[in-house]
Amino acid sequence: MTLGLRGDELERLRVAVAARLGLHFDDTKLDDLDAVAAKRLGALRHVPAGVWLGRVEAGDPEELAFLAERLTVGETYFFRNGNDLRAFAEVVVPARLAARDGERRLRFLSAGCSSGEEPYTLAMLLQDAPGLAGWDVSVRGVDVNPAALERARAGRYGEWSLRQTSAEARARFFEGTDREFTVRPAVRAMVSFDQRNLVAEDPALWTPGAYDAIFCRNVTMYFAPEVSRRVVDRIAASLAPGGFLFLGHAETLRGVSGRFHLRHSHDTFYYQLRGAGEDAVSGAVAPRRAPAAAPPLAAAPADPGWPEAIRAASARVAAITGGASAPGHSATPPPPGGPLQLAAALDLARQERYADALALLAARPLEAETDPDALLLRAVVLASSGDPAGAEAACARVLALDELSAEAHYVMALCREHARDAEGARNQDHYALYLDPTFALPRLHLGLMAQRAGEREKARGELSRALALLAGEDASRVLLLGGGFSRDALAELCRAELRAAGGEP
Ligand SMILES: C[S@@+](CC[C@H](N)C(=O)[O-])C[C@H]1O[C@@H](n2cnc3c(N)ncnc32)[C@H](O)[C@@H]1O
Repeated sequence: MTLGLRGDELERLRVAVAARLGLHFDDTKLDDLDAVAAKRLGALRHVPAGVWLGRVEAGDPEELAFLAERLTVGETYFFRNGNDLRAFAEVVVPARLAARDGERRLRFLSAGCSSGEEPYTLAMLLQDAPGLAGWDVSVRGVDVNPAALERARAGRYGEWSLRQTSAEARARFFEGTDREFTVRPAVRAMVSFDQRNLVAEDPALWTPGAYDAIFCRNVTMYFAPEVSRRVVDRIAASLAPGGFLFLGHAETLRGVSGRFHLRHSHDTFYYQLRGAGEDAVSGAVAPRRAPAAAPPLAAAPADPGWPEAIRAASARVAAITGGASAPGHSATPPPPGGPLQLAAALDLARQERYADALALLAARPLEAETDPDALLLRAVVLASSGDPAGAEAACARVLALDELSAEAHYVMALCREHARDAEGARNQDHYALYLDPTFALPRLHLGLMAQRAGEREKARGELSRALALLAGEDASRVLLLGGGFSRDALAELCRAELRAAGGEP
């Protein structure tokens, strides 16, 4: 329902807010945008909507500040996501200390700092970091919302902001009563605040190589993908080589940037800028999808683990669904060379003609492959042909080309399980899920592994999430990676395993 603007005016506002603030409003949120416009036009009284829109489009600072205050989400608190903070204290700070030993100077940025809890938290951790005595260390907090920054500069907080702050940290870093907590001067002296728009050209903010680590958590999730890409490019340019980037849990660099290594420690994921001599990789361009032309993959040879589970479940699923679990397909091998040959190899593997599949593959030396999609196909054929070591090598090549390939991590998980490395398999599934939380197959894999380990509650959790995700799973990914099962058969497998784990599908 339109309150303040006509449809075409609302569209102008949506475009201007995306261009000026990076904020993306989809159709379901247009009413919020309209309500904010109505409020502003009401306060401005005689300014016509068209004139006001012109000001917003031109980037009038007063109007952008008003919109930033009303349209951004400022939710934050001290010591948010302790795993990130432990990784910061135990991995990032020591690494940067070693890297900056000559200068004895460290710079950190909290980009989208809201009311300041995040940069103050970093300063508190830095106060406790060993080896920093005598170093020049500072944290800069920037945000587009001037009202939030005013609260940040005041440094006074209520109980809600300290909901994850230990009694010890409260005593050390805050003073005041039990209703209002003020950050102690020693911490405040390390932190500065600036009103900055991450979306605007701003050479003074993005000085090349300036920062040792940047926290940009829970900010890019509100941006359109192309805006995220631009902001992350600036972040990359302003980090020192080997500098670190932390994003929020719902944010990844998959399809956004290939300039970072993905790091995993302390049960969390973060990024490290590639070194000066390392090239960016292809993950910059777009999230990788399994090649659409791939034919269904065979159920794998009998072996413990996932392939076995799939095979063993096959008869049950066939009985439940009243038919064959995998769609029928027959192929005649095409002439050697080209992606069709890989597709044909997959099809041969599906028919359990592994020797033929491998013979086709042998015509294409692995080293010659530079296409992550072709390599992923090869990995899948090798895995289903009973060559997990070869599959793992192919996955490693995919990941060298595109470190953020969720699919390669998933196939790697299957290989690790085949090698009886359950921990490694789970780890790889978690990489895949971090990179693409909508990916159903690693969830299903984790569920089946938990089931086999007798962890019924965990199995129920993973299987029900897999079931929910399967409905929206990418069709080509089901074809390539679904172990020869159709989407429906995989869903039925999930339900059957859920029931076996004592759950309600
Ligand atoms: C949810 S808060 C995140 C706070 C903190 N980083 C955390 O994770 O706890 C998001 C912040 O991003 C800021 N923001 C949104 N768009 C921005 C932009 N274009 N430039 C600078 N800050 C922006 C918002 O004003 C808001 O304060």
